[in-house]
Amino acid sequence: MPLEVTKLGTGFGAEISGIDLTTPLTPQDEAELVSTIATYGVCVFRHTGLTDASHVWFSRILGNLWTVNGGRVRKRLPQLFDAGNLDPDGQITTDEGVRARRRGDRQWHTDSSFTKERTSWSLLLAHEVPSSGGDTWFADMREAYDALPEAMKLRIEGLAAEHSYFHSRMTGGAQLTEAEVDKMPSAIHPLVHVHPGSGRKSLYIGSHGRRIVGMEQEAGRALLRELIDFATQPQFVIRHSWSVGDLVVWDNLCTMHRGSDYDDRNERRDMRRTTVMASPPPPVMLDPRFADRFDPGRFAAFGAAA
Ligand code: OGA
Ligand code: MN
Repeated sequence: MPLEVTKLGTGFGAEISGIDLTTPLTPQDEAELVSTIATYGVCVFRHTGLTDASHVWFSRILGNLWTVNGGRVRKRLPQLFDAGNLDPDGQITTDEGVRARRRGDRQWHTDSSFTKERTSWSLLLAHEVPSSGGDTWFADMREAYDALPEAMKLRIEGLAAEHSYFHSRMTGGAQLTEAEVDKMPSAIHPLVHVHPGSGRKSLYIGSHGRRIVGMEQEAGRALLRELIDFATQPQFVIRHSWSVGDLVVWDNLCTMHRGSDYDDRNERRDMRRTTVMASPPPPVMLDPRFADRFDPGRFAAFGAAA
């Protein structure tokens, strides 16, 4: 069946219609869908009628799913990450820790950049939405990379960043200290890579980024901030306002995203996400100039390649 594709922005993002995600797809449909998602980076499907089961089933087309440890929907569905504000009984959570973790998602980020095995697609399905706010924003890291000044492209080629979930929770307002974050797992990934889906160069950055390998902490953070600020200028950004049943699929290997504020103490927001593993994980190519300043032992435990 021919997909109907309506572009959402000038460079990336598309709304896809003409496809029923709740019924089995032919191999041709699947292939067309996968290449459309790779091209546009963010794809919106409206009124999908997906349930937990069909959401997971459809996501499996794209690859192996990430198994959620903490933060499962209702603490039980292993493939569904809970991006909303409900507790295990389905009531608005009163747990400030949970609320703070979700608020951390309102910084520009890339899902799972803090694990060695990165994830490619995130598939977020709206079950309940607040009456206002709670939109999700996306930015295209390929367009942003292309637009960087040549001097910046040269400066960041070969650099790698350390990414930590606990770092972004700390900067998002959770009660954590630098010393505590130091002891937690993290992962290292190149700042620039080739997006497997499109073959285009892309930035790989976001709020989990904690350090640049080989740079002083503050200088590395300043560089990360500069790149994030550059890459989230309006010309690289689109926004999705959710309706119940919407599924948005984004490719973490070529986009960043962030949530936005809503009345999370009084309004229900039930959002569930499957996440597809990127496979195989690309090698980390560290600039040999920094080899003597990098202690592989510290990261080996978390599986990061030296
Ligand atoms: C996510 C996420 C933001 C939102 O699900 O990965 O960052 O708006 N969500 O719910
Ligand atoms: Mn996210």
